Order: sequence, then C-alpha cells, then structure tokens
Amino acid sequence: MNATATRVHVDLAGRAYDIVIGSGLLESAGALLKPVVAGRDLIVISDENVAALYLEKLQIAIETGGLKRPEAVVVPPGEGSKSIESFGRAAESLLGLGVDRRSIILALGGGVVGDLGGFLAATLLRGVDFIQIPTTLLAQVDSSVGGKTAIDSIHGKNLIGAFHQPLLVLADTDTLATLPPRELKAGYAEIVKYGLLGDKPFFEWLEDNGAAVLSGDPDALRTAVAKSCEAKARIVESDERENGARALLNLGHTFAHALEAETGFGDTLNHGEAVSIGMVLAFDLSVRLGHCSPNDLMTARGHLLRHGLPVSPPRTNDFSPSSLVRRMYNDKKAERGSLTFVLARGIGEAFVARGVDSGVVETTLLRALAA
Ligand SMILES: NC(=O)c1ccc[n+]([C@@H]2O[C@H](COP(=O)([O-])OP(=O)(O)OC[C@H]3O[C@@H](n4cnc5c(N)ncnc54)[C@H](O)[C@@H]3O)[C@@H](O)[C@H]2O)c1
Ligand SMILES: [Zn+2]
Repeated sequence: MNATATRVHVDLAGRAYDIVIGSGLLESAGALLKPVVAGRDLIVISDENVAALYLEKLQIAIETGGLKRPEAVVVPPGEGSKSIESFGRAAESLLGLGVDRRSIILALGGGVVGDLGGFLAATLLRGVDFIQIPTTLLAQVDSSVGGKTAIDSIHGKNLIGAFHQPLLVLADTDTLATLPPRELKAGYAEIVKYGLLGDKPFFEWLEDNGAAVLSGDPDALRTAVAKSCEAKARIVESDERENGARALLNLGHTFAHALEAETGFGDTLNHGEAVSIGMVLAFDLSVRLGHCSPNDLMTARGHLLRHGLPVSPPRTNDFSPSSLVRRMYNDKKAERGSLTFVLARGIGEAFVARGVDSGVVETTLLRALAA
C-alpha cells in the first residue's frame, strides 16, 4: 500500500470496515482489495464520466493484483440514475452478468453511484457485499461513510433506501484532479461542516490549509478527507440509525434542503453550495436566538466566502421566506408542528434545537435575502 495512505476504522458491531485514504490507491487497488475479496468475484458499477476516466485503470489494477478482471455496468451520470427505473435497469444488468451471493459490487464514482450501487447491493439476492471507490470529494467525505444507501422517488430524494455498510472504502484523492472545480468546492463545504459542528481545531487547520485542499495538494487533501471521515465515523458509530448524535451532521441542511427544493434541484445551486448557505443561516439563526457570538458567525461566513462558496441565497430566484419555511415543515426530518435545527454555541459546538419559532427563522431568511 502507498506509504502515505491513512486508514480510518469504522467500528460498527459485527460490520467493522476500513476507509483507506491517499494518493495512488487506484493503481494499487488489486493489492488493497485482495485480502478483503478473498477469491470472490467483483462486479463494478460506475457512471459514464467516471468509467471513461478510471474504469480501465481499475480493471487493470485488479488483474495485476492477481484477481479476475471485473465486468462493469455503466449508468448515465447524474441524479437521474437514482430513479426507480434506472435502479431496475441496473439490477437487471447486474443479474444478467451473473451476480450471485458471493459476488461483491464495487461502486466506482460519486455519491450517485455510491447510493445506487449500495442500494443494489442491499437488495439484490436479499443483500450482497459491496465496496466503495468514491471519486468526488463529497463522496469521499460524506456519502461513502455511514452506510446509508438510497434511490429517489417522485415524492422526494432518497426515500427508498437501506442501511448497508460496505466491506471497504478506497478514497483515492488523485481522482479528484479531474473533478470540475465547482464539484470540488461542493465537497469542501461538507468538510467545513465537520469543523463547524464539532471540531474547532480542525476548522482552524482549514483556515490555514483550505486553499491547499482546494488546489489539490495531496497531503492537505488526505488530511482533510481523513479528518472528515473520522468525524463522520465517530458520530455514526455512536448513532448508526440516526436517533440522536447523527442529527448534528445535518448542520445547515434544513436550510439547504429548502433552498435546493425551491431551486428545483437544478444548476442554480448544487448540494454543497446550498449547505454552505445553510450553515451561514444556521449560525445567523444561532446569533439571533442568543446562542452564538456574531464573531463566530463572521468567522464561519468569511471562511466559506474566501474559499469560493456562496454565503447567501442566489439572487436569480425569487425566494420567499414563508415558502422556504413551508419547505422545512415538509422536510422529512422535521417533526410535525415545530421546526428542529442544528444550531451552534460557537465554532465546533453544534447542538440540536427543537421547537424553534418559525418567525425567527423567517426573519433570518428575510435579512439574508435582503443583504
Ligand atoms: N448516502 C449518503 O449518506 C449521502 C450523503 C450525501 C449525499 N448523498 C448523495 O450523493 C449524491 C451526490 O453525490 P456527488 O456530489 O458525488 O454527485 P455525482 O455522483 O453526481 O457526481 C458529480 C459529477 O461528477 C462526475 N464525477 C465523479 N467523479 C469524477 C471524477 N473523479 N472526475 C470527473 N468527474 C467526476 C460524475 O459523473 C457527475 O457528473 C446525491 O444523490 C446525494 O443524495 C448521499
Ligand atoms: Zn450534505
């Protein structure tokens, strides 16, 4: 294995696994996979963009490691591949290629492929093993960790899913070199989230090293991805099924989901951008409710802004605070009759606040929209 790779161990009862993070992992995939795969057949699922860049490289590396060259199912890129129809097509393709209970599905791609591949693994033949090779920053720091897998319904995103933990996650930071800069920044917003929600020293490290992370510096990337995986892993270990601590991972997300829904999940705002705005709004709301100092709000906001992320809702949309709040009531994580937010007492000190008055939320939005 690459000497500078970092391993993060995720310890879930009976289903512990490692996340390996570093540069050059795709080339050494054969050697890394061999002890985990133990002679079983691998079958890759990927999307067209990622397959064009990395599928053959992965297949060759697996062969070089002395394993059988895996077949692959390639789906179109984008959220559309998480539809029920697309899931059905991919399931038939995988079964057509002879997936059996000893097969291992290898999800090579971003969060879309990870979610689709993971849910296929959770359901085909009542569950087969899978391995994640995340290739977007968002997938490396968020979606590949924690075992949530899902596809979309016409009634909402991620409504059809299962908890299914992978056998191994290989996060090769070299693959991020081909990622469009906007996608890289979207993943960076989730990295900042881990600092803001529970780790002030990590946030301070990002203040010094964020630019290096975004410019693709391998050491900075490895550290940032590893710290993020570590943070998410510790939270998921304490609360696998989201009854408590896991909710903290939703910092900025109640606002973000409302903004994403209001912009129709289109090109105006991607998820990371919505999360960036959402985190600023969550700090702003925390200040208004007297939990947090305005200084911490300015520090968080300044960091996101300096790293090229939006900090207020886009002007292109005619957002109305009351319709955004209505979206929050519809958020599947909102409890009926009251709004629940992840708020902060300061940088690195997030907490779950229930029963937040929607009037203060509307004021926060009104000011942000007028700014
Ligand atoms: N399961 C979870 O816990 C969890 C958490 C967060 C998000 N998600 C899900 O993740 C999905 C979003 O993931 P995403 O942001 O990775 O999007 P994505 O998978 O659509 O990837 C973004 C784009 O980048 C391309 N791409 C991927 N890797 C590349 C590379 N190395 N070089 C060049 N292009 C590359 C893809 O083809 C795609 O066009 C959403 O569906 C969301 O619901 C899941
Ligand atoms: Zn998110």
